[in-house]
Order: sequence, then structure tokens, then C-alpha cells
Amino acid sequence: MTNWFQLDKEYLISAYPRTSVAIAGGRGCRLYDVNGKEYLDLFSGVGVNLLGYGHPEIIKAASDQVEKCLHLPFHFLNPVAIEYAKKIVDHSLKDGKVFYTTSGAEATEATLKLVHKYGNITNEQRHGIVVLGGSFHGRTLGALHFTRQEGIYQDFPHTAIPVYEVEREDLEGLERTIRTKNPLAIMLEPVSGSGGIYPLSSGYLKSVERLCRQYNMLFIVDEVQSGMGRTGKLFAYQHSDVTPDIIQFGKGAGGGIPFGGIIAGARLYDMFSPGDHGTTFAHPPISTALGLTVLKTLIDDGLMQKSYDTSLYLNEQLQKVRRENPYFIEEVRHCGMMFGISIHDTNENVKKFQLDLLEKGMLVDVTQGNIIRLLPPLIIAKEEIDQFIDQFLACMPQPLTMAGGV
Ligand SMILES: Cc1ncc(COP(=O)(O)O)c(C=O)c1O
Repeated sequence: MTNWFQLDKEYLISAYPRTSVAIAGGRGCRLYDVNGKEYLDLFSGVGVNLLGYGHPEIIKAASDQVEKCLHLPFHFLNPVAIEYAKKIVDHSLKDGKVFYTTSGAEATEATLKLVHKYGNITNEQRHGIVVLGGSFHGRTLGALHFTRQEGIYQDFPHTAIPVYEVEREDLEGLERTIRTKNPLAIMLEPVSGSGGIYPLSSGYLKSVERLCRQYNMLFIVDEVQSGMGRTGKLFAYQHSDVTPDIIQFGKGAGGGIPFGGIIAGARLYDMFSPGDHGTTFAHPPISTALGLTVLKTLIDDGLMQKSYDTSLYLNEQLQKVRRENPYFIEEVRHCGMMFGISIHDTNENVKKFQLDLLEKGMLVDVTQGNIIRLLPPLIIAKEEIDQFIDQFLACMPQPLTMAGGV
């Protein structure tokens, strides 16, 4: 039998911790390994597979577009990309325009360059960007230093753009930083993803918006993980009554293929001149066609609202498990289909719990050492949630087996 684990080690640069499970394919919310074992996927490929695997609309859109063309250079107009931009703008920044990228990190890069140009053109005497502690905005050299997680950015050279870190929900700290450092923008995730799923309060977001207006700063929301319907709105900032200047999107936008971008408001979208920024994959017909299918399914077919309702059910079940097992679960946080379950145990034991769940056919993520992160496909059904809760309870260590016992 082929030893995929060994071959992976031999031929792929090892920047990721991997399990030994080799996946052959998937259907709905299920993945199947090369030996035919089934897994319920509660992480959807780091939040990408919003419509699960083998969704009929995605298959149809992909095969239709494959017949026409997969890629076009930026010299031509691409009607699908224009249609996509119109639809996403109609449902977010109504006076906005889109710049496409192929990943979330590239969306951050596009933002950084656009903000830089804005600063130069308007001759703002403000410099640098405020970010929140624990934030994640990508791993390319520019985006890296706006990502404030231990062990990710420290070993690599710093961008020339000043970065100021403040704690989430600390308005005093934010205003102090604004007054003393004169930053040009603040960039934040309305719901932190790999930081551990901490939704920012509406009150905080409204105050951030007010400070941005007061000090003439730009308000950037990174919705790469929290966007595309994952929280029950197209973008998580829409739960609060605020209007950002830039929205970054990515991950699930392309229905499973690399696709992302930014939506910039009227103050910004004319700042790039031709040649200022670009990529070969400027507006690929295949990504925008799949993206349009994702938007239609979420908005026109009502999946976004339906999945939000299902997320309330998952939350109820998890809160019940927490109430009955406070020795194991410290807190369950969620915003739509983004869940962070903080566990009272050593990082080693949380890892073991994750592997025990995997053994039982349940795929979850662990972030920040002791937080179980769930980003289920938006199509997940209540029966699948019940199966997950059963296995969660079955794998949960008993009080006396936990580090130190209770
Ligand atoms: C909020 C946020 N921004 C940016 C990124 C980077 O996206 P990508 O991995 O597609 O470069 C991520 C990835 O997890 C993310 O969660």
C-alpha cells in the first residue's frame, strides 16, 4: 500500500504539521480517505469549502466555465468578473469597487499598497497601521508583520510601514495610540479567526468607526475568514451598524479554488493608476464564475440565513456540553458558523483530544494550543451536528484523567 505520509515527507517542504490521513475526495460535509474511512468535516478546509464537497451548483458552474475558458489576461474585459463585482458591491459597500487577488494574504498586500498610495496622494501626515493583538492577516512579507501571533512574524524582516498593536476592545489604548502615533489606518478582523474566535462587540466597532472619522483614518476590515456568509451576514461587520473603507475577502469566495480580493470605498478606489499593482490572475473567469455561484447560493437561495439558524443549534448543543462539563470546557464563543471552544487542559491533551476525534471520524482544528476551532461547511445539517456532539462527548477525557485532575 502506498505510504503517502512518507512520500509527503520526502517530496514536500515541511512548513505544516500534518496528520497521516490521505484524503481521496468528499461529498457534502464528508471527506473520505484513501482507505475509504469517512470523516465529518467541521473545519471545511480552513473555512474554504462553504458549500461542502461536490455541490451540484459548483460542479455545474465549473464545468460550464471549463468549456469556455479558465483564464484570461487582464487586457480583456471579463463579463463574469464584472458581474461578480457588481453583486458583491451591491451587498456590501454600495459605492465600492473591487480589486481581485488569489489569496487572503494578497488581499492584505493590495490593501497595504492602496493605503500607502492614499497617504501619498492626499498628503496625510499620518503613517502606519493599527492592528489588534492576536490578529492574523496573512504570511507574505508585507502582511506578516500585521499578523500579531507568536512565532509567525518575529523571525522575518520587517516592512517599512509602522505597525501599532493594541488589545481588542481596549478603546482607551486605541485612542492613546492614535493620539501619540498618528496612524493612517486600523485593520481588524471583526471575528478573529486563528486568534481563537473572538467576535468584536458592536459597541467597539462603532467606536472604532467614530475614531476613524474623527482622526481622518481609514477603517479596514479583514473578512478573509469571517466573510462570505460564514457568520450569517455576507460580511461580519454587517452585524454592526458600521461602514468600513476597505473589506478584504478570500477563503470560501471561490467555492474551493483560490480567489480573494478587496472592496474599496469611494475615498480609495481611484488611488491606483494602471501599473501600480497587479497579478497575472487578475480576474480569472473560473474563480469569478464559481464565486458568483457561491454568492447566488448564499444570498438568492437563502443558504446564509439557513446556516445561521443551524449555527444557533450547534451553539445550543455546545453550551449544554459546557454547562454539564465545566471542568473541561472553559468557554464556547461563536458568531454564526465560527466557533471557538476554549478547553481547560494542557495543549498536549487538547491535541490528543483532537486526534481522538479524528479517529472517530470528526475533523476539527486546534488553534492557540487549547482552542478547538470549528468552521463547518454552511450546508451542515442538524443530524450531522448531533453526530459530532455524540463523538465529542465520547472522546472528552474524564475529570481524573485530565492534567492534575480536579
Ligand atoms: C483573517 C485572515 N486574513 C488573511 C488570511 C490569509 O489568507 P491566505 O491564507 O489565503 O493567504 C487569513 C488566513 O487564514 C485570515 O484568516
